[in-house]
Amino acid sequence: MKKAPEQPYGVSPKNYPEFMARCSEHMVRKGKDMAGYFLQPADPEAVIYEVYEADCAGNTCTALTILKPGKVGNEYFMTKGHFHEDAESGETYVCLKGKGMVIMQTRDGATDEIILEPGTVACIPPGWAHRTINIGKGEFIMMAVFPANSGHDYVSIQERGFIKRVVEESGQTKII
Ligand SMILES: [Fe+2]
Repeated sequence: MKKAPEQPYGVSPKNYPEFMARCSEHMVRKGKDMAGYFLQPADPEAVIYEVYEADCAGNTCTALTILKPGKVGNEYFMTKGHFHEDAESGETYVCLKGKGMVIMQTRDGATDEIILEPGTVACIPPGWAHRTINIGKGEFIMMAVFPANSGHDYVSIQERGFIKRVVEESGQTKII
């Protein structure tokens, strides 16, 4: 279990580098870490996204995700996406910078998506897998808040993928 922060703190579009500096974990996902996720092979050394994870405050964890701009073929850079292992754990996103989208799906095949722009709060209910996509021209940065016991099931998505993909066609963002 991670150590709880000793003092309250705020995160804003201006001061988020302070949050990054205080994080105990920093994960970088490159193209070579995402074999099979995109329809076409990604540049192995291209940084797709980074995640900074802070100390958990009691039962609540906070993380900051930076998705780089770019595409693999016509498919926008995206996170791997996951279900939570705990069936009761949802997640809340707050977009700080850029333009993105979260696509979601249930194990029964229901799908949904929310556009993420600075100030948007996305509420992801328990039972919905979630993947974030950068559909803008610059970096996409967001905070995620989730229960410390949520757990991450990446395998279900790795094996079966998401039902929908987000691509650029003729300069337009399309969900296919
Ligand atoms: Fe999650």
